[in-house]
Amino acid sequence: MSETPSPLRRLPDHRLLLGLFLPMQQGAWSPSRAPRSTSWTFDYIARCATTAEALGFDLVFGLAQWLGKGGYGGEMRFREHEVDPIIANAALASLTRSIVLINTVHVLYAWHPLHLAKFGAAMDHISGGRWGINVVTGYKPSEYRMFGLEPIEHDLRYAMADEFTAVMKRLWIEDEELSFDGRFWRTERAYLAPKPGQRRPFLVNAASSPAGLEYAAKHSDLIFITSPAGADPEAACAALPAHNARIKTLARNHGREVKTIINPHVICRATEREARAAYDRILDNEDTVAADNFVHTFQSGDTASWRGHTRAQWVIGGNVHLVGTPEQIVAWFGRLREAGCDGVQVNFFDYLPDLEFFGRTVVPLMREAGLRG
Ligand SMILES: Cc1cc2nc3c(=O)[nH]c(=O)nc-3n(C[C@H](O)[C@H](O)[C@H](O)COP(=O)(O)O)c2cc1C
Repeated sequence: MSETPSPLRRLPDHRLLLGLFLPMQQGAWSPSRAPRSTSWTFDYIARCATTAEALGFDLVFGLAQWLGKGGYGGEMRFREHEVDPIIANAALASLTRSIVLINTVHVLYAWHPLHLAKFGAAMDHISGGRWGINVVTGYKPSEYRMFGLEPIEHDLRYAMADEFTAVMKRLWIEDEELSFDGRFWRTERAYLAPKPGQRRPFLVNAASSPAGLEYAAKHSDLIFITSPAGADPEAACAALPAHNARIKTLARNHGREVKTIINPHVICRATEREARAAYDRILDNEDTVAADNFVHTFQSGDTASWRGHTRAQWVIGGNVHLVGTPEQIVAWFGRLREAGCDGVQVNFFDYLPDLEFFGRTVVPLMREAGLRG
């Protein structure tokens, strides 16, 4: 298979990439009933994406999950509603011009690589080379059962994703019909036309385990990482240099370049006191049932990500928690960069007002600090 130029060349050359974790699901990251505007509706998501683009963000990301009635439950029916993110991104492609649009797909839920290759080519054409697929293998047994499948053992999932991605890439890149008889997938005389105009979309993954990181090093351009030391940024900055270096080494062993992006929950206000009060307000209003179910899902699953979060930190949600003034947030961003992270993909509690404040106060300071060109 001929390799193609890395899609990473299509990203602007900032010292720290800046992404927005879209609030695709009802309640976004936080099982808390504290008042806020955040909404899963497409109109709200579109305003977040277009605002992020206007503020100079490099990418937006939409997660995908399959939950039963009531989502994670509680009064807020946490995460019950979600507009499918690949469909949402197709619509966002027409509303935006420059920002990269990434969404999750569970590739093992009864898809064939030819489906995703075709969708990817379409998304690449519609967006002008701005689409990326976050390849995930599904850590919830209940999701497999929804698709009439039996849950699959963790490392086997990544072996399947490896073959899936290899076939999908060949369909994007090769100019001949493809016949393939693999361990998990087969195809006879499959052909894709048009090819993606930009040869191939961004490939993204969010693994932490050895098998997941081996997959990511082999295939992904962007790797969404989590802190190996929980939500406290000081502990995270101590643990992240080794984690980032390990990922870069794994990728280099495959002759590849990858960028790592971490997901901070940013609570930023004009004063530290106000920021701490906003943090406390989220906690004080926790939806207990939703929080219990949310925490239980992660602590009982086989995911190697998000280890070390306390229950309260799950109620805030997201990965590393950054709470403070614009100056303090930018200082943390600098520390995360020094710890080897190539980017941050931020999430907020009250998305549109928080994003607007972030754009007005934090983004200019990031420029002053040399983190953004
Ligand atoms: C930033 C981020 C986004 C993720 N998005 C999704 C998602 O949308 N859907 C999903 O099922 N899993 C998602 N995951 C979970 C990962 O795919 C993976 O299961 C998890 O990080 C555990 O990694 P491991 O399989 O290497 O242990 C995400 C993880 C991270 C860190």
